[in-house]
Amino acid sequence: MTDHVTHVTHPLVQHKLTLMRQKDTSTAVFRQLLREISQLLAYEVTRGLPMTTRQIETPLQTMDAPVIDGKKLALVSILRAGNGLLDGVLELIPSARVGFVGLYRDEETLEPVQYYFKVPTELEDRLVIAVDPMLATGNSSVAAIDLLKKAGAKNIRFLCLLASPEGIARMKEAHPDVPIVTAAIDEKLNEKGYIVPGLGDAGDRMFGTK
Ligand code: URA
Repeated sequence: MTDHVTHVTHPLVQHKLTLMRQKDTSTAVFRQLLREISQLLAYEVTRGLPMTTRQIETPLQTMDAPVIDGKKLALVSILRAGNGLLDGVLELIPSARVGFVGLYRDEETLEPVQYYFKVPTELEDRLVIAVDPMLATGNSSVAAIDLLKKAGAKNIRFLCLLASPEGIARMKEAHPDVPIVTAAIDEKLNEKGYIVPGLGDAGDRMFGTK
């Protein structure tokens, strides 16, 4: 993956995202759409993985067939909203190893505070896909990737649903080696650090909290 930002403009992704943005979309429908869109985004974020071949037997003959090379991927959910993306991605990559980074946003400073960190072993040998639906200020994403690098990760990609221009700039400055895959790049952040037009609080919308 060479571009720093991949904006996934596929019609299915864009249509589902529009339904998710609508304020009257129920929790159940929001969750279902998130699951579906995550699988489509998983397809994009795994593009260009190194491949090798394995000798297999078809009913007709032996062939050297393509398979993904290397260690199992590591998916790392940035809690709690990351779990919504994680579920759909895991459906497409069921053998992936899974980690969690718990960060909450201090509502006054908007700075991330860590409360949980558990990631797969041998992170340095795996492609690590960090997932968080909203790349807003970029503070928590940058902090999560700082922690993943400290834990040994060398090959990281970041998957989100919505990104703000500010969040992209912050990530590019702090982690230019981490490609971002997103379904949309919205207009801006508001004074509370929300993405606008956005979809509101992704965690609240997927878990039905307020
Ligand atoms: N987190 C969210 O859930 N929504 C935003 O708009 C920004 C951060």
